[in-house]
Amino acid sequence: MNSDNDKQPVGARLTAALAQFPSQNSQALDYAHAHLIAGLVLAHKPLEVLELGVGSAYLTSVVLEALRENGRGRLTSVDNFFDWNGKKPFHITYLQENNPDWNLIVEDESIFLQRSPSEAFTFIISDGDHTRGYQTAPDLFRTAAPGSVLVFHDTSSEIFRLLARLPKRCRQLGFDNFHFNSKSKPEENTDRGLLVVGKQDRRRFSLDPIVRLYLFWRDKLRPLLKPSNRLNCQN
Ligand SMILES: C[S@@+](CC[C@H](N)C(=O)[O-])C[C@H]1O[C@@H](n2cnc3c(N)ncnc32)[C@H](O)[C@@H]1O
Repeated sequence: MNSDNDKQPVGARLTAALAQFPSQNSQALDYAHAHLIAGLVLAHKPLEVLELGVGSAYLTSVVLEALRENGRGRLTSVDNFFDWNGKKPFHITYLQENNPDWNLIVEDESIFLQRSPSEAFTFIISDGDHTRGYQTAPDLFRTAAPGSVLVFHDTSSEIFRLLARLPKRCRQLGFDNFHFNSKSKPEENTDRGLLVVGKQDRRRFSLDPIVRLYLFWRDKLRPLLKPSNRLNCQN
């Protein structure tokens, strides 16, 4: 945020960003999960990050800090401020003023997802509309480019039963995923669940076009050549 802060090592800056918020904010996700997501952003080096649901901006702040450390990548956050009676709260204005590159879109997330181009993002965090999150998940997967990391929060909650079906749904779709929902201290909220999903990279199947070309030659072209060969032999 300022040049003095920029001189600090990344670990200190992330910790400072996390420390700006009360760790037991009931809206925010847990400290451990926020650290995990920041680490994934640091390791994955995404160019386009999408965050659904800003809330306390606890996670937004650490993701912005991780992107700053990467030296590349842009964060787009979507929130209709439903939890704030439709009005932009002061802490969001403050964050915007200090992060001019942050792309905040005030809109219903399902409308945003519907109009989003396919494969537009390489890292997606879903912690917005918990009642319709399961229904909008197909659109969310569509907007994720191959090789993307997707993170869903509150996937073990008794309250959001549809979201709790997401781990099984991802397995059915064949997406690699890991569900973090263990808790070792009473004050932790990690049992609310964090699902980390990998959308497979199509480059893994880059031999596909070559295989298809071979099959086209074998099944379509070669049979066309054979009769003329036979004619030549008869002559
Ligand atoms: C649980 S909070 C997000 C918590 C956040 N990750 C944090 O670290 O504090 C959910 C946010 O999603 C927003 N939200 C709820 N329904 C939404 C919708 N349909 N479209 C966009 N945003 C929505 C709420 O206004 C709220 O700010």
